[in-house]
Amino acid sequence: MSTWPSWLPLRAELTTLSPYGAPQISDVVQLNTNENPFTLPVEVQSAIVTEIKEVAASLNRYPDRDAVRLRSKLAQYIEANTGVRTSVVNIWAANGSNEILQTIFLACGGSGRKALGFTPSYSVHPLIAKITSTTWVEGKRTSDFTIDIAVAIQQILDEKPSLIFITTPNNPSGTCTSLSDVEKMAQAAGTVGALLVVDEAYAEFSDERSAIALIAKYPHVISSRTMSKAFAFAGVRVGYLVADPAVIDAALVTRLPYHLSALTQAAAEVAIDHASLMQRGIKELISERDVLVRGIKSVGWSSLESSANFLLFSGFARPAKEIWQEFLNKGILIRDVGLEGYLRVTVGTQAENQRFLTALQEIAQ
Ligand SMILES: Cc1ncc(COP(=O)(O)O)c(C=O)c1O
Repeated sequence: MSTWPSWLPLRAELTTLSPYGAPQISDVVQLNTNENPFTLPVEVQSAIVTEIKEVAASLNRYPDRDAVRLRSKLAQYIEANTGVRTSVVNIWAANGSNEILQTIFLACGGSGRKALGFTPSYSVHPLIAKITSTTWVEGKRTSDFTIDIAVAIQQILDEKPSLIFITTPNNPSGTCTSLSDVEKMAQAAGTVGALLVVDEAYAEFSDERSAIALIAKYPHVISSRTMSKAFAFAGVRVGYLVADPAVIDAALVTRLPYHLSALTQAAAEVAIDHASLMQRGIKELISERDVLVRGIKSVGWSSLESSANFLLFSGFARPAKEIWQEFLNKGILIRDVGLEGYLRVTVGTQAENQRFLTALQEIAQ
């Protein structure tokens, strides 16, 4: 890119990149980044403040480098949530699942190695591939955004990647890959020596069983998860990895020392102690998702069947960019994910969803 100064020794492969991120616009209904719209229960807010006050007295010291107490609590949560027995040795935690993904790339990607993902999917996977000099291999989803497993397996065998990514429920489509299909891919991944990374950022919104159930049989299967969505905790930045202890050891080698602040660890521990309270909005979001589906259908548009807290919808006669702008003009920020003919909307509060549906009725006329 010509705008980089000549004195900056930026790596050549990064010169065409721009920083990742959706527009952050204030004074609009924000339905563009798949956040949970509910604020933290007041009881949890107070408990966090009390805990932070205590931690504040020792902020001159570095935090627990290995976040052992937080990881133990996450292990208990995962066991309660998935029924799979896990302990601290199966969990790694970081600043959002994006950092988890980067840690995995640093450990198992890099120059001369390949990562395979099935797009359209979470665009940060290929972005981190590029940043870590890992060759990104594009596996395509079918026109209904599912993965053709036979084609995927063939591609795994042909390409022999080090890393394979499946996002389920998938972002931006919201669609799921069944556990039996994930297992078939795990078998193929095992034959080529790849790690199968299952990005389960939206798992708590779905009825599908977690890939965590496969780890005991296939130690090269790993699950990347987050507290940003179901826990409504995006501002704190906590993501975690569930994996065989060998994978966790590899993450420890590539993590930065003291990467997770004492404040973050303390707040996250309190949130996990109140997990069911923190996740009380999930049911409402799922039923509001159905309200949005009905509203979208009522104007003759359609949406994909979603197992997440967002919907990918289509059916408009004008370009997606124009429709996106028309929503914004009405004070509603949704996401143009760069797929012509489709836009993505995050499920908001009931009031926010009604504003979206009112705008939709006017725009679809
Ligand atoms: C599929 C997927 N994975 C990971 C993330 C990153 O989440 P965080 O870094 O907030 O944990 C997102 C965020 O939207 C996502 O959609």
